[in-house]
Amino acid sequence: MIIVCEKCQSRFKLDESRIKTERFKARCSRCHHVFAATKPVSAQAIPMADAPSPTEARPPAKVISISNQKGGVAKTTTCLNLGISLALLGKRVLLIDFDVQSNLTISLGYQNKLSFYDMLKAAPQVPPERYLVETAYDGLCLLPSNKNMVLLNKQYFGAPHYEYILRDRLRPLLDQFDYILIDTPPSIEFFTLNALTTSDLVIIPTQCDYLSTHGVDQILKLIDLVRQKTNPAVTARVLITLYDQRATASQVIYSKLQQIYRDQTFQALINTDDKLREAQIMSMPVIHYDKGSRSGQQYMDLAQEVLQLAVHGGAEHAQ
Ligand SMILES: Nc1ncnc2c1ncn2[C@@H]1O[C@H](COP(=O)(O)OP(=O)(O)OP(=O)(O)O)[C@@H](O)[C@H]1O
Ligand SMILES: [Mg+2]
Repeated sequence: MIIVCEKCQSRFKLDESRIKTERFKARCSRCHHVFAATKPVSAQAIPMADAPSPTEARPPAKVISISNQKGGVAKTTTCLNLGISLALLGKRVLLIDFDVQSNLTISLGYQNKLSFYDMLKAAPQVPPERYLVETAYDGLCLLPSNKNMVLLNKQYFGAPHYEYILRDRLRPLLDQFDYILIDTPPSIEFFTLNALTTSDLVIIPTQCDYLSTHGVDQILKLIDLVRQKTNPAVTARVLITLYDQRATASQVIYSKLQQIYRDQTFQALINTDDKLREAQIMSMPVIHYDKGSRSGQQYMDLAQEVLQLAVHGGAEHAQ
């Protein structure tokens, strides 16, 4: 297993069989900081669906963007925790960090890795797999972000057919994964437009506060535009995040969102949960940090719903 020092972010490999308790104390050999660590849940501890046998042809990956122009609505958190939940259900998952903030990359404990920028600039004969990181979690790969990603907006935004750049580069990877999840930034421009053009489904995380409902409206209008111009098949679903059922305002906005977007809202919702914040400090998905955590289970429920959508041919268009 890999543990990450919460102070200096150094990563260490530990022999899991020598750790007897689920939570234990670790001492960083680099900065000497002592911190609490958690043994990851073994995949066997969680019921898993059948993975395709190696001989079975894999249908092309479903591509899902997690998108909302509003900042801080749990896009990155959803990308990571939905991704690990799908992997625990036996799916092979690629996470793409498509945000120059690199929060998804950092959340998995990586920094300064090759990114989509490097993949794009490489000679055509270099296989795209070279840019993927096999994470410490079974079935979960990452295409990281790094500081060079900022150049993509400068170099390509507005160029002819720039919206298709990601879609074209991902094509050779589609038969290697079941799901590709793309974390997008809280802005439009190059990254979001490429992600939406590439996606079968857009998950729109939103909090239950007044201004967030406007954010949902805006992204749905943008998705409509993308549907008309570059990706007629894209669908969308709203996901309630950071939900606090004790707050009256949350309850009121929740009912309003349910009314407006009825069948286009996921049944699973994600409550505000301190375990998620703690897991982030440890650079871990929450289900591995604490397998009994409420948000960990809620992200597993979301993954089940996403699998069902695939079975029933995708989500309807949110209007
Ligand atoms: N269910 C939750 N409970 C508690 N904290 C949460 C939850 N979901 C997300 N957070 C916290 O909220 C903050 C924002 O989350 P996150 O970074 O995922 O949002 P984002 O939409 O990706 O932000 P940005 O727009 O900057 O990319 C983070 O500190 C994260 O740990
Ligand atoms: Mg983010």
